Amino acid sequence: MDKFTIEGITPLKGEIEISGSKNAALPLMAAALVADKPVTLKNIPKLNDIYTFSNVMRVTGARVDFDEDSRSMVIDPTNISYLEAPYELVRKMRASFYMTGALLGRAGRAKVSLPGGCAWGPRPVNLHIEGLKAFGAHIDMEAGYVNAAIPGDRLPGGHFELSPSSVGATINLLLAACKAAGTCIISNAAMEPDVVQLCDMLTKMGAQIEGAGTSKITVHGVDSLKGIEYYNAPDRIETGTFMIAGLMHPDSELTLTNCAPEDLGVFRDVIAETGGAIAYDNDKIHIKAPDIIRPVSIKTEIYPGFPTDLQAQWATMMTLAGGDSTVTDTIYPDRFSYVPELARLGADISVKNNTAYIKGKAKLVGASVMSTDLRASVSLVMAAMNSRGTSDVLRVYHLDRGYEDLENKLNNVGASVKRVAEQA
Ligand code: EPZ
Repeated sequence: MDKFTIEGITPLKGEIEISGSKNAALPLMAAALVADKPVTLKNIPKLNDIYTFSNVMRVTGARVDFDEDSRSMVIDPTNISYLEAPYELVRKMRASFYMTGALLGRAGRAKVSLPGGCAWGPRPVNLHIEGLKAFGAHIDMEAGYVNAAIPGDRLPGGHFELSPSSVGATINLLLAACKAAGTCIISNAAMEPDVVQLCDMLTKMGAQIEGAGTSKITVHGVDSLKGIEYYNAPDRIETGTFMIAGLMHPDSELTLTNCAPEDLGVFRDVIAETGGAIAYDNDKIHIKAPDIIRPVSIKTEIYPGFPTDLQAQWATMMTLAGGDSTVTDTIYPDRFSYVPELARLGADISVKNNTAYIKGKAKLVGASVMSTDLRASVSLVMAAMNSRGTSDVLRVYHLDRGYEDLENKLNNVGASVKRVAEQA
């Protein structure tokens, strides 16, 4: 298991190109399985989650050819015959559960392993299952697998209200509903850009979808979906991560390229309150750090609210702010495994219920810290770059799931991050 050895304290100066979105690419890949012909996806990031999902799709008989240099992926679904997604792959990457909606949408049947939990607690899929049943699927559970089937092969249709709103459930229901016999309505649907982009791709394939980006999505089933070429969006969470990283040292000045600022929601307004100078210029974002970061408390919400996927990065920055703040996660109340690790670096931060209480003005000092999940890991890297001396961030395989080429992107703007192979 590799670790990062990081020398601090380093300001970040220069340009970083944002990669394609992980959380948008995965549903686009799943949507290709419902097409009658091959689909080409552009701007797909080289990430372990993308490789894992490609392998899950190949199990069905689909061809997945990923040209890493051009970031272009061709998915040929025409030979799909094995309508299953096995535990040993699904447990590695929970979004593999999208195979349920995709295989139901394509062939009226699916046997998919229930995904595991994750570092910060249970990740239920009850809404996915209840929604598919509401649209007319027959679903039973057997030995950790979901067995789903549609009598007559095409979903009759129906109405389901998500409570709470769920990105994954919205995506799964959309994948199953596109070729329904009737009309499927999703209330309290997720409005994330990842969902909007999926609806856009499905519509270009011939689906009839109304209300994408609102909390009510209506899908009128069609007989077939054609193969197309589609360009994946830039990663809004990677963008937010580097925007925060660019504020943490007073001498930092970053330009992010290949961005989609329109996908950032309220995050744009919140980050401006820190006092950093942030300018938006089409697909570029210029960030200049403030002399002293203003303390800004946040509470995560569904889109367009503050994303839960940026709360660990935000809390990390707030340890360096000129005053005290709080970070509350209303989506995942337990998503604070990074807090004890920040404390090892000298941060004054504690958690009560679903809120982190942060004292600013920390003088961070390098130490060994443990990654526990994707966003916690990148937060520890950000803290280590602002800690005096040497830090080791262990188990960086978490990072490789969701941040493409992270150490080179950071070293190219002045960081000192070395990947060291660790004996297992
Ligand atoms: C997606 O996960 C993202 N993953 C997550 O990003 C992100 O944190 C999350 O959305 C919230 O924005 C991908 O897109 C691959 P949810 P998902 O279903 O779809 C509850 C990252 O770091 N819920 O919107 O699994 C759930 O417990 C990852 O890139 C149910 O109760 O999230 C949570 O409290 C981590 N029952 C809330 O809904 C269900 O059936 C939102 O979860 C489903 C969800």
